[in-house]
Amino acid sequence: MCGIIGATGGDAVVETLLEGLRRLEYRGYDSAGVVLQGQGELWRARAARGTRSLEDLRRVVDGAPGPTAAGIGHTRWATHGGPTERNAHPHLDCTGRVAVVHNGIIENYRLLADKLAAGGHQFSSDTDTEVVAHLIEDELSGGVALADAVRATLRQVQGAFSLAVVCAGEPGTIVAARRVSPLVVGMAEAGEDGAAPAAYVASDIAAVLGHTRNLWALDDDQVVELRPQSMRVATLAGKEVEPVALQVDWDLEAAEKGGFDDYMSKEMHEQPRAVADTLLGRLLPAGTFALDELRIGPAQLAEVERVLVVACGSSHHAGLVAKYAFEHWARLPCEVDIASEFRYRDPVLDSRTLVVGISQSGETIDTLQALREARQWGAPVLVVANVVDSSMAREADGVLYTHAGPEVGVAATKTHLAQLAAMELLALYLAQIRGTLSPADARLLFADLSALPGLVGETLERDDAVAEVAARFTSTRDFFFLGRHVGLPVAMEGALKLKEIAYVRAEAYPAGELKHGPIALIEPGTVVLAVATRSPVWEKVMSNVAEVRSRGATVVLVANDGHEEAAAEADAVLWVPGTHPLFSPVVDVVPLQQFAYHTARAHGLDVDRPRNLAKTVTVE
Ligand code: M6R
Repeated sequence: MCGIIGATGGDAVVETLLEGLRRLEYRGYDSAGVVLQGQGELWRARAARGTRSLEDLRRVVDGAPGPTAAGIGHTRWATHGGPTERNAHPHLDCTGRVAVVHNGIIENYRLLADKLAAGGHQFSSDTDTEVVAHLIEDELSGGVALADAVRATLRQVQGAFSLAVVCAGEPGTIVAARRVSPLVVGMAEAGEDGAAPAAYVASDIAAVLGHTRNLWALDDDQVVELRPQSMRVATLAGKEVEPVALQVDWDLEAAEKGGFDDYMSKEMHEQPRAVADTLLGRLLPAGTFALDELRIGPAQLAEVERVLVVACGSSHHAGLVAKYAFEHWARLPCEVDIASEFRYRDPVLDSRTLVVGISQSGETIDTLQALREARQWGAPVLVVANVVDSSMAREADGVLYTHAGPEVGVAATKTHLAQLAAMELLALYLAQIRGTLSPADARLLFADLSALPGLVGETLERDDAVAEVAARFTSTRDFFFLGRHVGLPVAMEGALKLKEIAYVRAEAYPAGELKHGPIALIEPGTVVLAVATRSPVWEKVMSNVAEVRSRGATVVLVANDGHEEAAAEADAVLWVPGTHPLFSPVVDVVPLQQFAYHTARAHGLDVDRPRNLAKTVTVE
């Protein structure tokens, strides 16, 4: 997830771009850059690494030759290519006359880059984006207008994008387009104070709301041609269309949170995108799973005899889900360790044990040290991380990135779902390499995986129903969470969410283990949340639910739509759509996040910054 902005006209293009980038920084801050245009030639400035990149950029931009008629800017969350200045946007073509900023992933960029290189194009970054600049360069050489060149280029591109382009030959024109990734367009008339008319394009409303409320959203495969007083929107085939006008009644602060009250709910609502982006480019139409960026080759992975996962908190829960996937599909024995415990036992590891570290931040010290320990034993180490070039990603032998974008709320939500998706992919990829997955099964699983973002979206829409259930239990101070099989880590994640943001005691148990002791705690009024979606162990879960119910517990179930048999055994139900049982955690955890969220809000708590916690824990 990156942020893009463009401005043409008005009295302060440079300031508009820099201020817009500041508001878009929540989408990533690995680097920032702008291209400015006066009456012709383009002038580029970029700065890399961390939250200081925008300050550094501002210093460089102070030296820009003025005046500026138009410009485009970008704040980056690295995916393809490290977070360096070389990879910072905007990217230029060979002539330096075309500049592109891009949010999304060009899935077929390798193929396109090979063709362009064979045609003599020189690349100066490791990004997927740069191919777009070179393709436009080729199209422009045919003497067409920039908008036509962009359309012709995008017809060759697969994947997700929102992008903005300027070229030296068309001063004051910005051409922008989108597929999957969001893009809004704004038009400001001449101001009463004499300010000149202007046009804007940006990844989200917050970046331009300070300048205009005349806003439109582009649809997939629409291209807009912007000049200070005109906007023309057309399809990739060039047919003019009417864009959708946006009614915006947010102030700027609300706009930064996408209109949500806090980052946590915004990030929960970004979960369908986080899962879709994590799967993007990794499910090939031929029915194969492609993880070519891993850095550990298929030959070495084929030698693996065992998997050991180390992680903390929500990442640990993603590992517990993955254990079932590794064992079921890849037929690989798998153990999952809490990272802070791993180092202090005498682990038995060798070169045939694949050690997988899961970490959103890639910086958690417990996981980092555990992975260092594993490498000392000669085990190949693979990291599943959200932050590109984080310490773990740099030190590991291989890395599989989740593409959830930056997460501001301390509670992991969208990054957790992205981890679940990435771990399922990894297990299926290993199964493919080991020959334990038939092509027919692979195709079915493909379809199930591809449907997950939609199912997560559907589940999120039921927020009001979850809020109603949560409202019944706001004075409950003690919850039990039960689950079996992959439902157990879901229960553990639900309990963790409730503890960390609502400060309510919540204990997760394997449902079958209750009778070995903890059931003594069940008495009339005890509240039990159980994950009871359809699975091979559904009947067993329901027997355990009956055990607590008969002792007076109030039972809330997470159950599949239409499963009335489950509802008959519950005092309340959090309904979710069904999917393959091994993928079900991706959907089932969502109402538990919502349950914790509404409970915390009912207690008047700050869900984004819970007490005593830090987003990244770098102490042992
Ligand atoms: O960055 P990491 O994934 O390594 O972080 C691990 C845990 O600290 C993290 O998941 C923590 O438990 C979250 N607050 C959970 O919401």
